[in-house]
Amino acid sequence: MIFILSVVLVVLLIIWLLGRTHRQTVPSGSGYQASTRDEKITIYDIDDLEAQVAKIIPVGGFDYIRGGAETENTLRRNESAFDSVDIYPRVMTGVDNPDTRTRILGVDISMPIIAAPAAAHGLAHVSAEAGSARGVAAAGTIMSVSTYASSTLAEIAGAGNGAPQWFQLYLTKDDATNRALIKSAENLGYRAIILTVDAPIGGNRVRDARNDFRFPLDLPNVPRSGGKGIGAIFAEAKNDLTPYDVMRVKSMTDLPVIVKGIQHPDDAEIAIAAGADAIWVSNHGGRQLDGSPAAFEVLPEIAVRVNKRVPIIFDSGVRRGQHIFKAIASGADVVAIGRPVIYGLALGGWRGVESVFEYLQADLQRVMWLAGAQTVDEIKRIELRPQCMTVRCGEL
Ligand code: FNR
Ligand code: LAC
Repeated sequence: MIFILSVVLVVLLIIWLLGRTHRQTVPSGSGYQASTRDEKITIYDIDDLEAQVAKIIPVGGFDYIRGGAETENTLRRNESAFDSVDIYPRVMTGVDNPDTRTRILGVDISMPIIAAPAAAHGLAHVSAEAGSARGVAAAGTIMSVSTYASSTLAEIAGAGNGAPQWFQLYLTKDDATNRALIKSAENLGYRAIILTVDAPIGGNRVRDARNDFRFPLDLPNVPRSGGKGIGAIFAEAKNDLTPYDVMRVKSMTDLPVIVKGIQHPDDAEIAIAAGADAIWVSNHGGRQLDGSPAAFEVLPEIAVRVNKRVPIIFDSGVRRGQHIFKAIASGADVVAIGRPVIYGLALGGWRGVESVFEYLQADLQRVMWLAGAQTVDEIKRIELRPQCMTVRCGEL
């Protein structure tokens, strides 16, 4: 009897251990092997890429990238919110081959679409952020680099080869470290500091908890980060951010300081008063406070309050030309994309990243042509109205 019980216990223990190993699907340690693909990718719809990427990044890493906080309601709404307004196109405008070029914080770019800072591109591809930087540079736009990048700042700067790059700072509790990070970005030629303020701690990422997700590879700017989860990484960041932190970062650098993660007009005002050179409207791609509005819903009110005093960057849920058009028509100067860059990287390395930007640029250009905007500035003149589903909902 005791023998049978012991056998049952051992079998149960083995099943439990196997279950744990299965959940920890991105292995800790240096054995992680990311994609090595190196090719242009054909894109019909950015949403298609997700399913393809799910086949090549192990589930723990994929869920970390794709997932949002808690119920993922805010994540879902980020994309669907763009459907709440319609573009009222103007025709017979003589628009011909619209020009997507624009300028932000003194940098000329080929399109009003830039790469958002995102951690751990090494999950997606062996070339990590260095690969993304090369693809973004080839597309002629700006690469933003996370403090939690998996390539070093020097490798990324090298891969960009002089193309514009911005450094996203997560303040640590230690000012010497903060200064050293900023100095290193300055010395390497990064052209702005993005201070992210919507992540004093990590959001409740249920997928990561279920998967017991830990970064399989080191994040070179975070000591001893390999094998740690996002909660442990954020525990080392400054967890009590205030407007003085914006002022402190301003005092540490002559580069423009962009404050990222603004969702309320009052916070835009506070950030500008603290010295922000640009406002980045974002809900972190739905990864932080689930139950907060879609980023697109808060953009118009913030744009009115900012009233062109500083440029506005917008992200969260941008997946197609009409989204970019609607964001710019609502007051953004440029938009940023997070997950689509990582998907392009996983599927095609730097060429895949370039393909994502080329796809969005062509899609935006088509929307501009059909809506009657020759330039990015002219997008702001095209009317958006709340979606009108019945004949009774408005008169032109
Ligand atoms: C992010 N984001 C982010 N933001 C930031 O300021 N620092 C960071 O390190 C990260 N890390 C990060 C990792 C991953 C995997 C994702 C998907 C996102 C948020 C990012 O900058 C941006 O706000 C969102 O990704 C925008 O939403 P979309 O384009 O992914 O829908
Ligand atoms: C994230 C952090 C790193 O969203 O910003 O996972």
